[in-house]
Order: sequence, then C-alpha cells, then structure tokens
Amino acid sequence: MKSKQLQAALAALVIAGSGVLVTDTAEAAKSTALQELVPQPVQVQPHTDITYTLSPSAKIQLSSADARKPAELLANILRPSTGYALPIENGVTGDGIVLTNGADPKTGPEGYQLDVTPKQVVIRANSVQGHFNGISTLRQLLPAKAEAKTKQQGPWQVPGVSILDHPRYHHRGAMLDVSRHFFTPAQVKRYIDQIQAFKINYFHLHLSDDQGWRLEIKSWPELTKIGGSTEVGGRTGKLFYTQDEYKDLVAYAQNRGITVIPEFDMPGHTNAAQASYAELNCDGKKRPLYTGTEVGFSSLCINKDITYKFVEDVIKEVSAITPGPYFHLGGDEALSTPDADYVTFMNRVLPLIKKYGKTTTGWHEFIKTTKDTTAIPQFWGTTTTDANVAAAAQRGNKIVMSPANRIYLDMKYNKNTKLGLDWAGLVEVKDAYSWNPGAYLNGVTEASVRGIEAPLWTETIRTSADIEYMAFPRLPVAAELGWSPASVHNWDRFAPRLGAQGPRWKIQGINFYASTQVPWKK
Ligand code: ACM
Repeated sequence: MKSKQLQAALAALVIAGSGVLVTDTAEAAKSTALQELVPQPVQVQPHTDITYTLSPSAKIQLSSADARKPAELLANILRPSTGYALPIENGVTGDGIVLTNGADPKTGPEGYQLDVTPKQVVIRANSVQGHFNGISTLRQLLPAKAEAKTKQQGPWQVPGVSILDHPRYHHRGAMLDVSRHFFTPAQVKRYIDQIQAFKINYFHLHLSDDQGWRLEIKSWPELTKIGGSTEVGGRTGKLFYTQDEYKDLVAYAQNRGITVIPEFDMPGHTNAAQASYAELNCDGKKRPLYTGTEVGFSSLCINKDITYKFVEDVIKEVSAITPGPYFHLGGDEALSTPDADYVTFMNRVLPLIKKYGKTTTGWHEFIKTTKDTTAIPQFWGTTTTDANVAAAAQRGNKIVMSPANRIYLDMKYNKNTKLGLDWAGLVEVKDAYSWNPGAYLNGVTEASVRGIEAPLWTETIRTSADIEYMAFPRLPVAAELGWSPASVHNWDRFAPRLGAQGPRWKIQGINFYASTQVPWKK
C-alpha cells in the first residue's frame, strides 16, 4: 500500500498528455524537462534510470543525408553555449547526438523518434522535416541555458526517454505583415528562428498592401521605388526587399525546415501599387501614398488589360524566386471592388497562378469564385459559420484556420495592452488556446482542415520587441494546437508546460507577455 505522500507525488508526475507515470519520486527532478515540452509530443516514455550528459568530445553523427541542415542548426545553437566543438560527422561512431533514418512508419512524413541512452541521443526520422522537428524537441530537453549565445557552465544533461512524435496537421504557419510596417531581413530572420523552435513549417510574408509594396519586381520598378518608400506613420527609406534579399530570406527559412508563402494582396489592399503606377487606376491617375490604417478603399482596375499584365508579371517574377509551391493572392476586404468584378478578377488571375506552377492560397473570401479543390482558403473570420468555406470543404478543399478572434497575434491580450488592435476582440492566452481547429467552423471537419496559421498584422507593431510581445506566448499556443494530438488538449495541463518556456525565452532575449493566466517557471 502506497503512502499518501507517495500517491500525491505520483499523481503530480503524470507526464502531461502521455498518461505515463514516473514511478520514483527521487527521479522526479530529472524528468522535469519531459513535462515541459511545447508542443506536447504524441508519446513520451520516460526512462528514469538513464541520463545522457553531453561531453566535450561529443559529436553530431549523421547516417542520413536528410540530417545535414538540421545538424548544422543544432550545432549552431549548442556550440556557443556549451563551448564544445560538436563536429558534424558522417557515420555513427560513439558518444554524441545521432541523426539517422529508419523511424517507425507511424512517424509519417514529418515525425521522428527520439531515444536517450547513456551514450547517445538518437533521433530517427524519415525526412529532413522529421529531423528538424526532432531537434526542436531535443533543444527543450536540454537545460534552458543551452540557448544562450555565450559560454555557460554545464552539465548538459538530457533525461532518459523514448519519444515518438508526429503532427496533427501538416500546415503549421505564422504570418508577418511587412507592409504596414517594414521589417529588415535581420528582424525577419529573428522571427523565423523563433517560430522554427516550435515546429512551425510555413512562414507567410504579407508583402503588399495599401501602405507598402515590399518586394522588388524588376519589370515594374516603381512598385518599390515609390510604393516601397514609406509605411504606417510616415517613416521613409528603402522599405523593401531586393529580389536577392528575398531569396536569401527564403533560403534562410528553407535551411530551417520552413517554406515561405509570399502574399501579394489583390484586388483590394493595393494602394501602394496604385500610387506607383498611374495605369493601374481606372482614371489613369496615381494615388497618393498612404500611411494610415484604414482598410477597404483601394481596388485594382478590373476591366483594364494592363491590370492583368501587371498581375501576371508579379506572379511570374515571384514564382521564379520562390521554391515553395504556394502563391497567396490575398483577396480579403475588397470592399471597393463590386462583387461581379471580384469574380471577373479571380477568374482571370487564378489560372495565371497555375500557369507559373504554383498552388493558390488566399484569404477565404476568394474561395467563392472557384470550384478548384486544390485551392487553399485561409479562414480569418470571427464567426463559426461560413457557407462558402463549408461548401469548399464539402467539395474537398483543405482549409487553413486563422480565426481572428482566436489566433490573430495582433489582437490585444486585454484592454490595457498597449500594442495591437481589438476589432476581433481581446484574446488572452487561454482564449487563444480554447478552441478546436478541427471542429470550429460548421461544416469543416478535422479531415478538411489542412492546419492553422497565426497571422501578425503590424499596424501598431514596429520593432522585434513588439513582434515578440504579441507572438509570445500565443505563437507557441498556435504551434501546440497545430501539432499536438487533440486528445491532449487541456488548459490546466498545458499552462504549466507553456510557463516552463519562460526561462528559455528570457535567455533567448524574447520580449514575451507574462500573462497572469500562465504559471511562469522562475
Ligand atoms: C484580414 O485580416 N483582412 C485577412
């Protein structure tokens, strides 16, 4: 018969969501890291008698070509903090971190197994994605100071465990609006690094809007010369990416397992283009540059051929420098485009995206204009009913879920939040967590959900610190909803796991919002 104290200790040691008990209280501390993973893996089997300690002579050993980039990512994180050389070598030779293939087929195209033995941490995966995801988990199993940019004191222990893991949804996205405020390549890379750590695999860049056109288009140079010269609030400068800078950003994301989805919003949200070229306006007159935050006042000229020459040139140039398969055409809030014109526009533009080899994604409004079941609507509404999205799901389209009152990262947390907007409501951390993407929209079932995306609009966001304050901790919330099995969805278990990220974010210099709803680890 167990003592009362032991029973209480055992109850406290249930690994969140896994149903696995750690059966020795003396081993509890070692297993703490296993209870602090975000997103929660599918299976976590602790081995309380085992601890792996990274040694100064440890190597990162590869027996899978897929693992090279993930190994480089891991080495770049651990070398500065541990001070160890951590050479990356082909072949499995002994002490260290082993990245190999031959994972259980249950892990699927993006999953992995992670096994900790006294001599090695072995990550098995059948794809490069799987290795990136396994590495993200290993980072959280190491002490938080492993994330430091300067040399720290060890020991660098990893608790004994066997993990088998794979995502609930393929699409786990984050969006950054670089149009309302422009963010430099360095700022964008910083955010890419932050989302990557939570197994986010799509990065959606909102590259054009009324306030700014942010990517060089060589055949239409005024788009950036004029349209990329200012932003909300009126700052001026070179507020755009050259094609080389964009290619570098895309490669940076790709080297971290992330696919960039470029968005050029049309036929509304187009003032920056219309300020750059007179011919894009029905009256042939350039619009003034706009530095305010209203929406819905601009529209491309639907019945001019030059509009489609412009759109085709943009799609052609962007597609040529975007290795990912998607082109996001916006399509939202076209309040100045009559409905019939909106349909006319989409009927001409959707085939152009196909012509250049890309799959169309867009804000959900566009889906009413097409029966193409490969097109991907991104739901951003605030209701749980949308007849057009439900009809598309019935036809077989897969939906990306971004309900604004749940995972728009620019919504204020509460009425005192200085940054952000509140048109979709106040979204505290628990609100962001308390919905089920697979049963949220009427008529859109789990099987019709491609995944989720957390957009960050930047009307009020100007710095990396601003980005981080709005994204943390809600971006990791979105990552959990997109990755972890629906069966582990439970706020009381999730909140401490989320709170355990606090020390890690402090070491990484992430300016997170320390919500009082979350029990932050000191
Ligand atoms: C949107 O928030 N207008 C997509």
